[in-house]
Amino acid sequence: MKICCIGAGYVGGPTMAVIALKAPDIQVTVVDMNATRIAAWNSDTLPVYEPGLDEVVRQARGRNLFFSTDVRGAIAAADIIFVSVNTPTKTYGVGSGRAADLRYIESVARTIAEVSTTPKIIVEKSTIPVKTAETIQQILAANTNGATFQVLSNPEFLAEGTAVVDLFNPDRVLIGGERTPAGDAAVKTLADVYARWVPRERIITTNLWSSELSKLVANAFLAQRISSINAISALCEATGADVDEVANAIGKDSRIGPKFLKASVGFGGSCFQKDILNLVYLCESFGLPAVAAYWNGVVEMNDYQKRRFSARIVRSLFNTVADKRIAVLGFAFKKDTNDTRESAAIHVVRDLLAEQANVVVYDPKVAAADIQADVLGKGVANPRLNVAASAYEAALNAHAIAIVTEWDEFKTLDYAKIFAGMHKPAFLFDGRNIVDLAHLRALGFRAHGIGR
Ligand code: UDX
Ligand code: ADP
Repeated sequence: MKICCIGAGYVGGPTMAVIALKAPDIQVTVVDMNATRIAAWNSDTLPVYEPGLDEVVRQARGRNLFFSTDVRGAIAAADIIFVSVNTPTKTYGVGSGRAADLRYIESVARTIAEVSTTPKIIVEKSTIPVKTAETIQQILAANTNGATFQVLSNPEFLAEGTAVVDLFNPDRVLIGGERTPAGDAAVKTLADVYARWVPRERIITTNLWSSELSKLVANAFLAQRISSINAISALCEATGADVDEVANAIGKDSRIGPKFLKASVGFGGSCFQKDILNLVYLCESFGLPAVAAYWNGVVEMNDYQKRRFSARIVRSLFNTVADKRIAVLGFAFKKDTNDTRESAAIHVVRDLLAEQANVVVYDPKVAAADIQADVLGKGVANPRLNVAASAYEAALNAHAIAIVTEWDEFKTLDYAKIFAGMHKPAFLFDGRNIVDLAHLRALGFRAHGIGR
């Protein structure tokens, strides 16, 4: 059997590497039109930073795992084609700012239709609106080379930073297919691939639309928990309660559970906001404005939280940060990844620059050029924004530190040394609640957390 995956990004790369590792008899080829990305997958410096990924790729690459730019060749040869291209939120036209931009999906579907001469199972891996499979099917139906297609939905639930662990040991694998004999057969073929390492009872099969919708709903529920605790963090700051204590107390209720209750400067990442906006758009399109408004509140609360964090910095520094040096520690949207999509750090840095602060960012894995491009736009420079090579360098001569990503190394910095090199009074804003505020205060810092 041959598998091809179109799109060598944060989802396609790690997912295919793990399939190749676990199924040595299957040839897995990951293709992308981005030649630089493919070259990186074939080098010692992978384009995606994920703990444990280097080892998986090293074992399978060249054996039954290949990275290539020959999109058409790989499609022609494959039995199963995973579609893992990006589906960003539309920035133009109808549904701008909310609907998913399906241009990459459509272009892939057209290529598959053109190139295929043998039966193919097409697997949607990207997060996409409900009923996208139908669009893909319609485009494939226009294929004139006589190939037959089955379209499946197989959403990926891995979280970045823990992708390899999540792929090795998923809570569940979800496969949606058409409820016809041919659809059932295709579902079984894909289920058999996963069953090599995932227990059968964790492989759930549904109809196509249920599977597509479940991905959006899972992410909406997870993000909703974060917005809920972040809403409470504002109340805690106003009243003197400690949000971590509240989260701990409510999380002990087994009906609520302890996970995803960490108050923060706001959720980021390529999925949560995009998927909720998508869900909101879907509800509006189906004439359900009350449902749309309900879920939109989750995104509104997240925007509020990011603004609230930078506003608190300005307020605490005597209502002006103009010409003050602020060290921003962390830029990735969470620890253990170099991904910055929708990172809260982007908004925090922009807000501080708008207040005329001098911002110095340090992140252990994000490249300086990416930081500059995310904040200012590609090729744009601003002398007020700089990138440091360490947390110590960033904090030297700073008036304040803002911890925006929960990298482990920020927990164990020598804060006494850092304090000594800062302007006084020295402030620290922990947007992730990872450092001990009492300890920092004892060192002399004016230290604030989120909701505490
Ligand atoms: C998410 C889903 O978890 C995953 O199942 C789906 O496939 C893709 O979207 P990801 O975005 O990679 O994964 O990371 P996740 O761990 O969910 O974190 C998302 C954001 O929420 C991060 O910015 C994180 O810092 C933040 N977060 C998470 C909190 O602020 N508090 C929490 O308690 C948990
Ligand atoms: P994700 O987080 O969903 O994996 P990424 O943006 O990291 O998203 O990866 C998507 C990849 O899909 C990109 O590397 C992009 O170049 C690739 N891609 C998009 N459209 C096509 C296409 N038509 N053919 C091949 N690759 C594509």
